[in-house]
Amino acid sequence: MNDSTTFSRRKFIGISSLAGVGWAFSGLPSIAQPSVSRLGTFSTSRTFKMGMIGCGNRSKALIAALNSVPEIEITALCDIVPHKMEQRSQLIKGQPKPKFVNTLNELLNMSELDCICVVTPNDTHKAIVIASLEAGKHVFCEKPMALTVADCNEMIGTVERTRKVLQIGHQRRHSAEWRLLVETIHNKPLGKILQSSLYDYRGDWRVPDADEYPAGVEYWRLNQARSGGVVYEMGAHIIDINNWVFDSEPVAVCSIQGVNNFSLRKRDSSDHAGVLVQYANGAMMNYGGNVYNYGSTALDTFFCVNGTVQLGGGKLSIKYGSPAGFPKPADMPAPEEISLRERNQEGDGTAEQFQHFAEAMDGKAKAFPDGYIGRRVVQIMQGSLIAAKEKRIIEVKELG
Ligand SMILES: NC(=O)c1ccc[n+]([C@@H]2O[C@H](COP(=O)([O-])OP(=O)(O)OC[C@H]3O[C@@H](n4cnc5c(N)ncnc54)[C@H](O)[C@@H]3O)[C@@H](O)[C@H]2O)c1
Repeated sequence: MNDSTTFSRRKFIGISSLAGVGWAFSGLPSIAQPSVSRLGTFSTSRTFKMGMIGCGNRSKALIAALNSVPEIEITALCDIVPHKMEQRSQLIKGQPKPKFVNTLNELLNMSELDCICVVTPNDTHKAIVIASLEAGKHVFCEKPMALTVADCNEMIGTVERTRKVLQIGHQRRHSAEWRLLVETIHNKPLGKILQSSLYDYRGDWRVPDADEYPAGVEYWRLNQARSGGVVYEMGAHIIDINNWVFDSEPVAVCSIQGVNNFSLRKRDSSDHAGVLVQYANGAMMNYGGNVYNYGSTALDTFFCVNGTVQLGGGKLSIKYGSPAGFPKPADMPAPEEISLRERNQEGDGTAEQFQHFAEAMDGKAKAFPDGYIGRRVVQIMQGSLIAAKEKRIIEVKELG
């Protein structure tokens, strides 16, 4: 197993976890507050030329982010629906108009391209990533890395053979807000992490316009085999953060998921899920999500031996405490509440991840998050699908 998590913690967190060491931490440095953004704080030796494949909804946010990353130029767009390339090209600022191509082969034949940005439906990621790496391109691939652990293994094998960069689009790894959460749990005197409680709710997927897909092509998000359903599409983000917080490998997964709201749209992709995961360090994640709720989102909560951390509503709150009947230590820290809005630390890291990708292509950094980190999320997501289908606990090692 590659130790990219250790790399990432050294790079982004600075000091190691203080798990299980007790209360006496008055001499510790306070959490290093991550800067709002590193954009513009470094330069690469040259501009990298990117071909973006998939000009759908997500590409709008990626192009907006890339407009603030001068180290990368979008030189080509590729989509099976021609008018989407024209629409997206209009969002690109301060760069020559990109070339439009309809097939991956045409894109990969453009020798001037340094890298490919994969923004196509989930079931296409593996083939496009592998073909791009084999063609000598660096690759940025949107989350989820792939649908199965076996596919991730093939992708990682291709990275190792081609020595090209593969970075996965878990943008929260580059967001100041999420880094603050991880640093808080690792560095504050909270003790060993024991459990998390994480929930995502949203009101169904976007309804695509009639001309967005070729005639007869259904919306892939409503198709379980193409998307993986709610855990892959929505859960992937917070599951990755949980993996970062827990800093341990998932070992067992159980889940109930499926479709239980038939009133919205015809679909076979799961619209709700509950997923329980046990990690090698003994900690447990409890994830729940659905795509038919229009209410507010619950707080992400992390329970440690000496306290609880909650993130949500623009705030990070840290509460310390010991159970009733246990003496309260004299040096127990006071609760803390950090307003993310006041500190301007909200922001999802989409632009920053591309700046990091440029650094990685320039040989100045390792891809982050890399395929090993992406695969760890897929271990949980694929494990949850099989667990729900077969109504049993899945051991992650079964997945290969
Ligand atoms: N990181 C995030 O926060 C985030 C957010 C949304 C979506 N995503 C991911 O981005 C990816 C795309 O999602 P989306 O919402 O843009 O979907 P979408 O359906 O809006 O867009 C997908 C595009 O890919 C094109 N396409 C499909 N197959 C193709 C092929 N073989 N060659 C060229 N083009 C092809 C489609 O025509 C479409 O324009 C998914 O993997 C999704 O999970 C990530």
